[in-house]
Amino acid sequence: MSVLFEPFTLKSVTLRNRIAVPPMCQYSATDGQVADWHLQNYASQARGGAGLVIVEATAVAPEGRITPNCLGIWSDELAQGFVPMVQAIKAHGSVPGIQIAHAGRKANANRPWEGDDHISADDPRYWETIAPSAIAFGNNLPRTPRAMELDDIARVKADFVAAARRALDAGFEWLELHFAHGYLAQSFFSKDANQRTDAYGGSFENRSRFLRETLAAVRRVWPEKFPLTMRFGVTEFNGSIDEDMEEAVTLTRLFKDDGLDFMSVSIGFSTPQAQIPWATKGFMGPIAKRIRDEAGLPVASAWGFGYPDVAEAAVRNAELDVVMVGKAHLANPHWAYEAARALQVERPSWATLPAPHAHWLERY
Ligand SMILES: Cc1cc2nc3c(=O)[nH]c(=O)nc-3n(C[C@H](O)[C@H](O)[C@H](O)COP(=O)(O)O)c2cc1C
Repeated sequence: MSVLFEPFTLKSVTLRNRIAVPPMCQYSATDGQVADWHLQNYASQARGGAGLVIVEATAVAPEGRITPNCLGIWSDELAQGFVPMVQAIKAHGSVPGIQIAHAGRKANANRPWEGDDHISADDPRYWETIAPSAIAFGNNLPRTPRAMELDDIARVKADFVAAARRALDAGFEWLELHFAHGYLAQSFFSKDANQRTDAYGGSFENRSRFLRETLAAVRRVWPEKFPLTMRFGVTEFNGSIDEDMEEAVTLTRLFKDDGLDFMSVSIGFSTPQAQIPWATKGFMGPIAKRIRDEAGLPVASAWGFGYPDVAEAAVRNAELDVVMVGKAHLANPHWAYEAARALQVERPSWATLPAPHAHWLERY
């Protein structure tokens, strides 16, 4: 019996299986608006059978977009653009999730296929980037951001809260705070990126402050019945993983007190110096398991789980509650169906496909 195809319930939400499409930027928006491409893309991911579809990093403020073509949710009008997408995801049997984000010092870049580097100051698409400290990421993102004033910090926290409210109004049932991948919140926690000497930098408590305050404020507006989740980089893969994990476990326990229901355990990406074991399939499994066991929170993870046997093993070995399968879903939105067949799930089509396909494929 496959465990990957068992339902997963969190709060009032039940995923039909343990497979999730993680947030994946489509870089296809103008002025933050949902376009037809987004609707088609997310509807097809949901139709393909995953239990949860999380919409890509969606900026809480215009300057928080990774590229000028990223989605935004900084106005009610933008939020309403998500409604048909949410309805399509639900109609196809998936739970609609969204990741809300601020890219901090990694914002204002060209799209990956157009250079993936910072936009130059003389380009009309340029905007000022902000971060905890005036320290550049480096490599392809060499621009020095402006260090945030306390007013900026208060404003961005309020932007996250307003974005959460709008996501709820648009019909999303699963909210993910993007506190990973070297973007704004992760850089507050990073010792490399954050060299502040006020209450938001220095000690573990101070580096955690922006993340904890934002989470707690969002919890006050995001209903208890729906999962409030976070993507967080628990290690930088730059130095001692054990030291990173000690801090990450302690912080996750505090997040739990602040109202976090679930963590998507990821990588810090705060430094170009990281040594990440890309070649090992499912390498994040044992790391996520530590958060699951030691902090007592259900978890997901991504990075190389897009193989049915690897995904199945991650759930069976109690490493993950939910498996994020990214690029394999771009290659084949029906990845869940393919996995069900590979794992010999009984009546796999009904577990993952709508009737007009399922009726035929059940016998196929
Ligand atoms: C095109 C693309 C866009 C991505 N955009 C995001 C994003 O918006 N937010 C995020 O947290 N991760 C993003 N990621 C990372 C994925 O969520 C996922 O962690 C990654 O693809 C690794 O999983 P995989 O090996 O199954 O592809 C993106 C990845 C890809 C390929």
